[in-house]
Parts: sequence; structure tokens; C-alpha cells
Amino acid sequence: MKYEIKQLSVENQKLQIPEITDTIILGDSLEIMRQLPDKSIDIIITSPPYNLLNSTGNGLKKNTHSGKWKNAAIKDGYQDYNDNMPYDQYVAWQRLCVAEMCRLIKDDGAVFYNNKNRVQAGLLQDRGEIVKGFPLRQIITWKRSGAINFNAGYFLPTTEQIYMLCNKNFKLVKGANKYTDVWEITQEMKNPHPAPFPEALIDRIISSVSGQIILDPFGGSGTTAVSAKKFDRNFILIEKSEVYCKMAQKRLEGEEWRK
Ligand SMILES: C[S@@+](CC[C@H](N)C(=O)[O-])C[C@H]1O[C@@H](n2cnc3c(N)ncnc32)[C@H](O)[C@@H]1O
Repeated sequence: MKYEIKQLSVENQKLQIPEITDTIILGDSLEIMRQLPDKSIDIIITSPPYNLLNSTGNGLKKNTHSGKWKNAAIKDGYQDYNDNMPYDQYVAWQRLCVAEMCRLIKDDGAVFYNNKNRVQAGLLQDRGEIVKGFPLRQIITWKRSGAINFNAGYFLPTTEQIYMLCNKNFKLVKGANKYTDVWEITQEMKNPHPAPFPEALIDRIISSVSGQIILDPFGGSGTTAVSAKKFDRNFILIEKSEVYCKMAQKRLEGEEWRK
């Protein structure tokens, strides 16, 4: 099966879902989402950049090529995105993105928004700030099997959050609530993208919901799309880096993509 990468103009174009179903869109997440109709998407699963290079610590600053974490891929940041915004600007941007996601889901739809609390300048940055005021129903704790930490002032954080924002008619499929709200799933190790989802995490979400059209507006290497196809669903990916779009395309088409 072949999957197209579409580069779309951003000038007030109104996009219809059938024309972009099972498509990788090369573009800016917010600009593309703004062109999609209200209540047109069943499920959104996404992980935005975490603003990791905006660090007060000593480890994740760009061009840190030495020390204990020299092999952590994320330290170099993304291909075409500088993950380093002033904190308030990052929160404001992410709130605009979440607002668009909530506009896009149907009355029985949900958004699974993954982010990670951080400590900066000695104080917790609670990512709950981003989803405040949106229809938050549950916070799933994703427990990874390890993590990186540059600071002796706090315990090694090993969890991330998945905020489940639901419209009123959203329901899990029968039996899915057995998974509980703490998911122990090992992070992805074999994907060259700097911050990929583990496929098992997305498999669990998609197998727990019944929606057909699944959007990931920060698509990266295409894990959400791969999982969607596994469960006979349709996907729409938005990703601003052409390198990652091509990675996702090759992965979906079953070609060598890990280089
Ligand atoms: C945490 S990664 C997502 C990884 C993905 N979940 C996977 O499994 O590979 C965030 C992605 O957002 C992309 N990105 C950053 N800014 C963007 C924007 N404004 N619009 C679309 N994508 C963006 C980055 O290039 C990066 O691939």
C-alpha cells in the first residue's frame, strides 16, 4: 500500500476529511488543524515537542555533546524544529493546539494528549496548565522503565502524563477499563526519531476506543498511523519535518525506515 505526503497551502483552504484520509500532511499543526471542519475527527492521539531544549539544567541544552547523556537522541532536538520556547509562549502555543483538537473531535470523540511534567529552576512545571479549562476526564500515568535526569535535587522522574479530554458521549470499548490509569510500557528504543511513542502505548489506546478517523497533529515517525492501520482504522498525520514525514511514509509502506 502506498501513502501520500501532501504539502498543503495554508491560505484559508477548507479541507475535507476524505481528501486527507490515510495521508501524511507536511505542514504546521495549528495551521492545518484550523482548516479542518468542526467535529470531523473521532480520536486524536498526540505528543507535541516538550520544550526540552528550554532547560535551566545542564544536560539538554543544544550542542551538549559530552557527558553522561551524549547518546540521548533528544539532546540534539528535532530535525526542523527548535524545541526551545520561553515557557509562557510554549504553554500559550500548546493551549491553542489543544483548543483546535477539542474543536475537531465529534460528540463521542476524545483527545489523548501526552506531555511530561518537568522541573525547571527547582520548581515543577505542571503540564496540567496546558489542558486547564478543556474537558479533562482522566489523567493516565505512563510509567516508563527509566528516564534521564541531570539534577540531584529531585528523584528521577519516570512517568509521563496522557491527558484524556473527552466529549460527553465518549466511551471506551467494552472491557478496556481493565487497563487502569497507570500504564507500564517501556519507552521505544529502536526508532531513530528523537522522541517516538512506543507502538504498544498507541496500540493500547486505539484498541480501547472505537473511532475510525484518528488524527496525530505532531505525527513524527508515524507511530499513531502504523497502529491505526493495525486496527483497521484511518489516520491523518500532520508533521512539519519532511525528514520525519518520509520516515513515517516508509514505515507505513513496509520499507526500510530506521536510517
Ligand atoms: C514528540 S514528537 C512526536 C513523535 C511521534 N509521536 C512518534 O511516535 O514518532 C513531536 C513532533 O512534532 C513535530 N513538530 C514540531 N513542531 C511542529 C509543528 N508546528 N507542526 C507540526 N509538527 C511539529 C516535530 O518535528 C516532532 O516530530
